[in-house]
Amino acid sequence: MKELKNILSLGRVFWDSQVLLTSVKLKIFDYLGDFNDPKALSKKLKVNERALKMLLDALSSLGFLEKKDNLYKNRDKYAGYLVSDSEESITSILIHYYNMWNDWGNLIESIKTGKPNDRKKKDQEESYHFINGMDNLTKFYKNNLISNIDFMNSKRILDIGSGPATYLREMLKKNEKLKGVILDLPQAILVAKQKLKKEGLINRVRFIEGGVEEKDFGSDYDIILISQVLHALNRSVCKIALEKSFNALKKGGKIYIHEFYLNERRTAPKDNVIFCLNMLIHSDGGDNFTISELKDLVTSAGFFITNVIRFKKPPTVLVEGVKNNYYSNPKPISGK
Ligand SMILES: C[S@@+](CC[C@H](N)C(=O)[O-])C[C@H]1O[C@@H](n2cnc3c(N)ncnc32)[C@H](O)[C@@H]1O
Repeated sequence: MKELKNILSLGRVFWDSQVLLTSVKLKIFDYLGDFNDPKALSKKLKVNERALKMLLDALSSLGFLEKKDNLYKNRDKYAGYLVSDSEESITSILIHYYNMWNDWGNLIESIKTGKPNDRKKKDQEESYHFINGMDNLTKFYKNNLISNIDFMNSKRILDIGSGPATYLREMLKKNEKLKGVILDLPQAILVAKQKLKKEGLINRVRFIEGGVEEKDFGSDYDIILISQVLHALNRSVCKIALEKSFNALKKGGKIYIHEFYLNERRTAPKDNVIFCLNMLIHSDGGDNFTISELKDLVTSAGFFITNVIRFKKPPTVLVEGVKNNYYSNPKPISGK
């Protein structure tokens, strides 16, 4: 019976998911800091009153709202995440999930053809939510990653596919001598620039606008960070990115590759396995890596691997490699 219940609830979990995503897209949570009446709210949101009441009841049943005397209010424990302008907000990543809805609904096409089924090119707002969504996810864990990067002794760092520059901004704040170069696609650089400007860091960063496959990386870097980028590229572009990185680093310089990982059988961790299908749908040949595939990629470009750190939440791996260093024995994998 437990199995039956599991299958049925997984089969329609997208109903619950759409209740949440539609509400975030409508910014409902932004209006429910205090108890609010659905009639007034339907006018503000320009939606149908009866339908809105149904949606608010559904949100209450899912635990996101409190309902009292036919008025609704955010539950405190979720409010910070669901209100769009709060420090802890994750509404960009939720809107990004909302935007992926139709593509995922057409998964069957990608399974038949083996090709992505991106419904259309992202407009500026969609790109913003994708890139800012990365910040929504990493802002809670950024110190886990950067505490394992040797940036305090570095002067020049290249951050490839920096997105919202969450890690770079943190490293620049912690090491005042550090200067950064970001290589990324134009829509991502737009968001990185906004965030760097807001934090007074923009003058310490230069920008190379374009893809790893076409751009010159520059030279003399102490560190190169490639975090959560390689899974979106096909394997021959990944190889090019690693080879160019090797040439762009100083002797003794370090490369850091941060990725979701798969076990050797490619069946766990569950979220990372499902994410491979997200890459099938949304990229031209992207996929997650097993840890040995990542290590091979790094060593084939000429690096010696000096550290491999696995993080549990979310399940990612950081591979550190050195150019022309003396180490030749990788340290054993350490868990975190
Ligand atoms: C998932 S985000 C990762 C952002 C950030 N590094 C992080 O770890 O949170 C992927 C980034 O890779 C960038 N990207 C995708 N394809 C790229 C390419 N061919 N060359 C350079 N950057 C690329 C995207 O624009 C985006 O900023």
